[in-house]
Amino acid sequence: MAIKLPVERFAGIRTPFYYYDTNILRQTLDAINQETKKHDNYFVHYAVKANANLKVLKVINEAGLGIDCVSGGEIEQVLKAGFPANKIVFAGVGKSDWEIELGLDKDIFCFNVESIPELEVINEIANRKGKTASVCFRINPNVGAHTHANITTGLAENKFGIAMEDMNHVIRLAQNMKNIRFRGLHFHIGSQILEMDDFIALAERINELQDQLDREGISLEIINVGGGLGVDYDHPQDNPIPNFKDYFDVYDKYLKLRPGQTVHFELGRAIVAQCGALITKVNYVKEAHVKKFVIVDAGFTDLIRPALYDAHHCTLNLTTTNTEEEIYDVVGPICESSDVFDKDLRLPKTQRGDLIAMLSAGAYGEIMASGYNCRRLPEGYVSEDL
Ligand code: LLP
Repeated sequence: MAIKLPVERFAGIRTPFYYYDTNILRQTLDAINQETKKHDNYFVHYAVKANANLKVLKVINEAGLGIDCVSGGEIEQVLKAGFPANKIVFAGVGKSDWEIELGLDKDIFCFNVESIPELEVINEIANRKGKTASVCFRINPNVGAHTHANITTGLAENKFGIAMEDMNHVIRLAQNMKNIRFRGLHFHIGSQILEMDDFIALAERINELQDQLDREGISLEIINVGGGLGVDYDHPQDNPIPNFKDYFDVYDKYLKLRPGQTVHFELGRAIVAQCGALITKVNYVKEAHVKKFVIVDAGFTDLIRPALYDAHHCTLNLTTTNTEEEIYDVVGPICESSDVFDKDLRLPKTQRGDLIAMLSAGAYGEIMASGYNCRRLPEGYVSEDL
């Protein structure tokens, strides 16, 4: 059940654009719900930073997931999509006052707080509004993740979270603040993680911290383990649904809970990556002395992952039936030499006008698009639109 790209329905649609196969998305959500329904205390909050397309959000909301936001804009967008405010967790190292006010006004489920100055500001604003803010602390667990350096977040050197040594102190501070309700701890070690050992290491670190808190007489209601489960970018057609069973089993097996605790997950990529493709048109095939270039009408303004993280997206020519193959560099039109999607890629002989699909682009694709070079932002369509 691979992603279906109905190329006959793509005719006449301005390229580049994103296409989301809602069938794959729904099956992915079902696979998650199959696992989480085994535990009445597991809650998945979709990390909307991965994709905030309203039509995609509506499908995710229908599946009953909660939501993880990192900005006031994201909170506004998910409310527009119909998510209930009491399922929103709100993270981020640099929340602005208006964003904190919005969270309080909407009575979101929880703020994931990353520093003492932020805690103080939330307490002050909540006090002014006569509200109590639910708070978890994001703790930096100093657990490495086997992933790209730009998307590992749980090391002591990263800017995220509060150091473990300071944990007891900040909790005590929070417990003494009038407008703060301390609820628990939040973690996130990185993204595109495929080695379950990394999540095991996080679970074991959380166990150590809980033992330490027990000795201090501090109890937690909420344990939020963040997101990070990766997807198979190399074989999206064979492997469109991530292995949620192994992922949730890790926490079931290794995380030691106290009675009444709830476990929260913030999955982004694993939910939306495989249902989305970037569809682009070949503008030119240029035969230079040492290389052949396929120059497409999408650039890194539409999909920045290859330029930013050396990411590879499986690339298909949707138009040709040519059996003859050539080796190409697939590049975009932006005036920067990093605007390269793939080097030395084997494709069927390609011509001007052919449609090209870049797969596994549903996460951190459309949402990271920019207007550099005054380019238009790509549209996003779901299966039902076309
Ligand atoms: N929770 C927190 C606190 C996060 O920082 C992130 C992602 C997530 C959850 C969701 O992680 P996921 O399940 O999607 O791995 N633009 C990069 C990925 C950046 C991830 C940032 N944080 C990329 O395209 O690979």
